[in-house]
Amino acid sequence: MGSKQDSIKKTLTVALTLCLVCSVMVSVAAVGLKPMQDANKVLDRNRNVLSAAGLLQPGQSRADIQRLFDQFELRLVNVVEGRFATEDELRQAGIDPRTYEARNAARNPALSRSLRGDDPAGIQRQATFATVYLRQNDRGETDLLVLPINGAGLWGAMYGFLVLEGDLKTVRGLSYYEHKETPGLGAKVENDDWRAQWVGQAAYKDDGSVGLAVVKGRAGGPGEIDGLSGATLTSKGVNNMIRFWLGERGYGPFIAQLQAKKG
Ligand SMILES: Cc1cc2nc3c(=O)[nH]c(=O)nc-3n(C[C@H](O)[C@H](O)[C@H](O)COP(=O)(O)O)c2cc1C
Repeated sequence: MGSKQDSIKKTLTVALTLCLVCSVMVSVAAVGLKPMQDANKVLDRNRNVLSAAGLLQPGQSRADIQRLFDQFELRLVNVVEGRFATEDELRQAGIDPRTYEARNAARNPALSRSLRGDDPAGIQRQATFATVYLRQNDRGETDLLVLPINGAGLWGAMYGFLVLEGDLKTVRGLSYYEHKETPGLGAKVENDDWRAQWVGQAAYKDDGSVGLAVVKGRAGGPGEIDGLSGATLTSKGVNNMIRFWLGERGYGPFIAQLQAKKG
């Protein structure tokens, strides 16, 4: 009888000790690896920006990527008002541009607006501020403008970057870094050949309206991009989000304001 009780006590002690040791190990690993995870997240973001701008080459080292990314300036844009965010309004909103995530802000009613009722891109809530990246040439003129975009694909939200040249009109590139589309179907948004069609297209027509459209069948006209074969719904999602973000409720007013400043 006594030995039975002993063995239950021992079993529980061993089990509890094991739990404790394991939980300590997991906590130490989670805390210890956090800086590494954060650094990798930043590297990944930098890589995505460069990829969209067509600056990512195979075999580039971490240092190469950092050097290329350092040429860009990170700025927050007040999308609703179509201008760069002011330091005052960011301070009031408690935003640090270096750590700001529009995706989190979109869940905060104080930092976003609902698009319900008129939401062609399936965004649901749109953050007031967006993080854009600008690169300047030797003459101090903006030669690349990297704009974050998001919207609904067939299976879930898609996140990417659309990059414009310094004329704020010509597309330099498009890249999706997160989506839930099917490999071989909607995931062909990642294909180099498909992405190449965007390069050099005019984002705006001469009358100022959005000039890009993803069309089913063979595209041929100015600004037309081939829809992905077998993935009409993803293609529609891309079309809708591009047109939304370049339009009046997206970066349209901000781009117009930058254009006006250039004179
Ligand atoms: C398992 C499965 C995965 C699919 N994934 C996608 C997808 O990622 N994107 C998409 O547009 N259509 C996808 N489809 C196809 C859609 O259901 C739909 O048939 C298609 O978008 C129509 O395109 P089409 O007119 O070019 O054939 C998928 C279908 C199946 C059965």
